[in-house]
Amino acid sequence: MSARKITVVGAGHVGATAAQRIAEKELAREVVMIDIAEGIPQGKGLDQWESAPIEGFDSRVTGSQSYDAAADSEIFVVTAGIARKPGMSRDDLLKTNAGIVASVSKEIARVAPDSIIIMVSNPLDVMCYVAMQASGFPRERVMGMAGILDTARYRSFIALELDVSVEDIQALVLGGHGDTMVPLLSTTSVSGIPLTHFLDEDRIEALIERTRKGGAEIVAHLKTGSAYYAPSAGAVQMVEAIVKHKRRILPCAAYLEGEYGHEGLFLGVPCKLGEGGLLEIVELELSEAEASALASSAEAVRDTMAALE
Ligand code: LAC
Repeated sequence: MSARKITVVGAGHVGATAAQRIAEKELAREVVMIDIAEGIPQGKGLDQWESAPIEGFDSRVTGSQSYDAAADSEIFVVTAGIARKPGMSRDDLLKTNAGIVASVSKEIARVAPDSIIIMVSNPLDVMCYVAMQASGFPRERVMGMAGILDTARYRSFIALELDVSVEDIQALVLGGHGDTMVPLLSTTSVSGIPLTHFLDEDRIEALIERTRKGGAEIVAHLKTGSAYYAPSAGAVQMVEAIVKHKRRILPCAAYLEGEYGHEGLFLGVPCKLGEGGLLEIVELELSEAEASALASSAEAVRDTMAALE
């Protein structure tokens, strides 16, 4: 199962890596990169296509400045915008990226009115909201990638700590993509064995803290930008779930209409993804502490939304 055409908006590190992953997994027959920087999506697209005979994929990768090249794409992965520099929070990106994401989303609605938007640009939860407003798409077709990334960081740190396979670590990190993210300890296991069997509270808290600051840890190393290998992998996992109609349950930013007691904002929750996009939001019973952490996270997202107005 593969899509006919998937477009990645933004040919920077996240976008180009996402395009490469989509092509190498042959999730679409055509992969288009769009970027305002002249020549960049063309050059990166051609370079990726030239890797096809070696890697053995037949997804045709191209690049363009024009949204007409993206006409009738089934899915758009939106990575456009500026990234964090050391010392910046994701919210510092707010106004610049809101303008970019709004105009990108209008173009998407123009050239592919039935498409699905997977948002990656930061501040993530609010950019999802901007995209939904600007595109006029229903919530089934606008989602954000953050929970998969935050959960992957958490899983990768647990695997290192326990010296076990990352494949055996199950976890869910909910909430907004920010310092208020909510790792659910009740869902964290190693092949079904609760994490608390292996680690005491202090060690777990340290891993959670590293997860919360995971994005900043990468920014501090790179200095000139933010993470892109893990973020692009997260976005492509959502693409794959949709294209292959896998009905995977993944933590994604979704527009809440009362789920978990919140409405009118995007927040990371467990989502079932398949053909058409968001099939269902899975509502878990949260402990009092988890529910209150999620409420604080929702509050932080609302504050950012208010700062935009
Ligand atoms: C991160 C940024 C991209 O978490 O939000 O790495």
